[in-house]
Amino acid sequence: MPKASLISIAAYTPSRVLSNFDLEKMVETSDEWIVKRTGIKERRIAKDEITSDIGTKAGELAIKRSGLKKEQIDAIICATISPDHLCMPSTACKIAANLSLPHGITAFDISAACTGFIYLLEIAKSLVESGAKKNVLIIGAEKLSSVVDYTDRSTCILFGDGAGAAVVSASDENEILNVHTASDGTQGELLITPGCGSAFPASKETLDKKLNFIHMAGNEVFKIAVQTLTKSVLDILEKNNLTSDQIDFFIPHQANIRIIEAVKQRLNFTDEQCVLTVAKYGNTSSASIPMAINDAYEDGRIKNGSMLLLDAFGGGFTWGSAILKFGGKNYCDLNA
Ligand code: COA
Repeated sequence: MPKASLISIAAYTPSRVLSNFDLEKMVETSDEWIVKRTGIKERRIAKDEITSDIGTKAGELAIKRSGLKKEQIDAIICATISPDHLCMPSTACKIAANLSLPHGITAFDISAACTGFIYLLEIAKSLVESGAKKNVLIIGAEKLSSVVDYTDRSTCILFGDGAGAAVVSASDENEILNVHTASDGTQGELLITPGCGSAFPASKETLDKKLNFIHMAGNEVFKIAVQTLTKSVLDILEKNNLTSDQIDFFIPHQANIRIIEAVKQRLNFTDEQCVLTVAKYGNTSSASIPMAINDAYEDGRIKNGSMLLLDAFGGGFTWGSAILKFGGKNYCDLNA
């Protein structure tokens, strides 16, 4: 059976910065409150770009860094909770067209909220290891600013736009060792975009009630996230007979510095092991983990063979963890 490896990583962020000081002018909040409660200082906001545009930029660089030709990519999967269109076409189909990927390529979106990238890894690993596909482009892409209510101070401070992408291919080295995904739909209403689906179809009333935006019971979500993530990381370490000191980099979903710190402390990860981007990008949902991997790759911390532990928790609820050896070899930028 072929082994699957993450052979490239890339990210793209829109250039426009929305700082805490900008938010102070929009809602009753302060830089001090936001930094203390979340660790976020600024986030990126797309203006004229839509989710597929953002995902296309990350995807293009991920293919380039994989060293493969576009014709060799035989599936593209996009995780997003802010797709270009509610139902169809999928954002993956649009990115495939933007990138001129092969006609007839398998392309679909998945919805697993902030756990999107872990779900993508599990699907891509399964496709490659079963022999169904050889090279799978996976993309977490979000324009969360399109589903955030900028009059709601409890949510608008948290989210940002961006995309992260990677190629998963068959390889003899640096395999994706283990991926675990999970869900519990019984508390889905605690973190929800209620409107514009079949439950509350788009209408004047739906929009007047702001049901098209993200609604969150932040405090309750916070507590469940810390407990669930800690257990998820402990379980995957134990299952793979590993301890935290054998991990080179712990790359958690970047939702809130206090959630990350709580998990990090309970699992004895050091500051050097922990990759943090929450201050500069906020929570970019499915894009957050690949954006963080990319940050540590571009600044030279993550190298070919680095052992990575990923974890995420999000709406649904969904959660998951992954352990992999990074298989990227061909560092380059988009203009190379
Ligand atoms: N600025 C200033 N005050 C704010 C505020 C803001 N942006 N947002 C909320 N507050 C106020 C509340 O109104 C409340 O005031 P009150 O005590 O007078 O009622 C007070 O701050 C405390 O609110 P609370 O919601 O209990 O704060 P918190 O410490 O839980 O922090 C979050 C709020 C959203 C930062 C935090 O709950 C969180 O990060 N939750 C998880 C988010 C998350 O990770 N979600 C995605 C999972 S993928």
